[in-house]
Amino acid sequence: MSSPAFPPEFVWGAATSAYQIEGSPLADGAGPSIWHHFTHTPGKIEGGDNGDVACDHYHRFVDDVRLMRELGLQSYRFSTAWARVLPEGTGRQNPQGLDFYSRLVDTLLEHGIAPSVTLYHWDLPAALEDRGGWAHGDAPKWFAEYARLMFRTLGDRVPMWATLNEPWVTMDNGYVSGCHAPGRRDWAEAAKVSQNLLRAHAAAVAVYRTEWKQQIGLVVNLVPVFPATEAAADRAAAQRMDAYLNRQFLDPALLGEFPAELAEMFGEAWPAMTADEMSRLREPIDFVGINYYLRLFVRDGSSDGPSAGPPRAAIVSPPNCPRTALGWEIYPQGLTEILEWFRSRYGDLSLYITENGAAFDDTPQPDGSVKDLERVQYLKEHLRAAGQALRAGVNLRGYFVWSLFDNFEWQHGYSKRFGIVRVDYPTQRRIPKASARFYAQMIRSSASDFEA
Ligand code: FCB
Repeated sequence: MSSPAFPPEFVWGAATSAYQIEGSPLADGAGPSIWHHFTHTPGKIEGGDNGDVACDHYHRFVDDVRLMRELGLQSYRFSTAWARVLPEGTGRQNPQGLDFYSRLVDTLLEHGIAPSVTLYHWDLPAALEDRGGWAHGDAPKWFAEYARLMFRTLGDRVPMWATLNEPWVTMDNGYVSGCHAPGRRDWAEAAKVSQNLLRAHAAAVAVYRTEWKQQIGLVVNLVPVFPATEAAADRAAAQRMDAYLNRQFLDPALLGEFPAELAEMFGEAWPAMTADEMSRLREPIDFVGINYYLRLFVRDGSSDGPSAGPPRAAIVSPPNCPRTALGWEIYPQGLTEILEWFRSRYGDLSLYITENGAAFDDTPQPDGSVKDLERVQYLKEHLRAAGQALRAGVNLRGYFVWSLFDNFEWQHGYSKRFGIVRVDYPTQRRIPKASARFYAQMIRSSASDFEA
């Protein structure tokens, strides 16, 4: 008899983030975040949507945790909103904000669900942005102060922490393309932000080690990058894109060095770092969380000029491939590939898939139910790909589907639905989709459907 693909201790969870689901961003003494300001700037978000209400999780978290329990989730990955607990980003604490997260953690534990907390999922306090934001030299110190406060408040009850969610997205979408808050396009600033994010991550890990003993890690989005053709110039472009996207944060955090391509790519904008500082970025961590959604093909983009994001690489997409509603190619095998790539480059560190999922244009039945068979298929194929990596010896410890709920999908507003649970926004009704039932069954049967 073949053995199940997933070991009994494998963790099954779902993920969300604060700004995307909570709503009430200014309630009970919270300060505004850069996302609050960004969404209230005309023209930034599809449909003029914002996170003012979102899934109203801020008021409905008890029922939401009950629903998680019904689905059999073993862990719940969420983020804490920095400006809820430190309205000005540093200094004055907001007890009501801290209390919200404390109650959420207690409710999860009462229902047998392990909280997995991400400290930064893109919602920098606006007050810190006014002081220079992530490009400011003190940003790592600000982050360490916030991290310490959260460890003090929740550290005795939370077994799994992540410092940053997808630092690449923070720097690229926030400071290069500008499609995310704070909406800037400044290559030199992006270089500083990149380095400061790494310093902030390492500083928070160092704080954690002083008193707390469970797991802390970093969450990155990884994207297998392929050259569009076999031409040498395209291969070199793919190489540069891989450095920019996949190695920019992992190499310094895990190997203590930057990919050589980065200094070249950023040119004079890249601030020099002393060897001592470099070595401090490599603060040992307990796991890496990988968010996987798609792969990319790139061609040499020399003629696009130096301002085209990572210089001299242009993204092309294969025609006629299966895609999600965001146009992202569905490429399950990429999950196996990226996990195996990680192990070969960085070794045997514990890994979690901290996000994986898809947006589809769900059509609800008249009774509100959703037969999202494409999403079921997507999950099956990606779980199979994860199982394959496990069998190949990758140290994969768990899987978190993105997302538990339909929610505020950043620049796309509410137009793109990623949830395994539908949220009917006008009534805030939660309706588990076919994919939620599939996932619940998958957890219950301990993955016996996915035998080798
Ligand atoms: C990831 C983000 C998450 C969500 C998914 C679709 O990059 O971490 O918040 O938007 O993409």
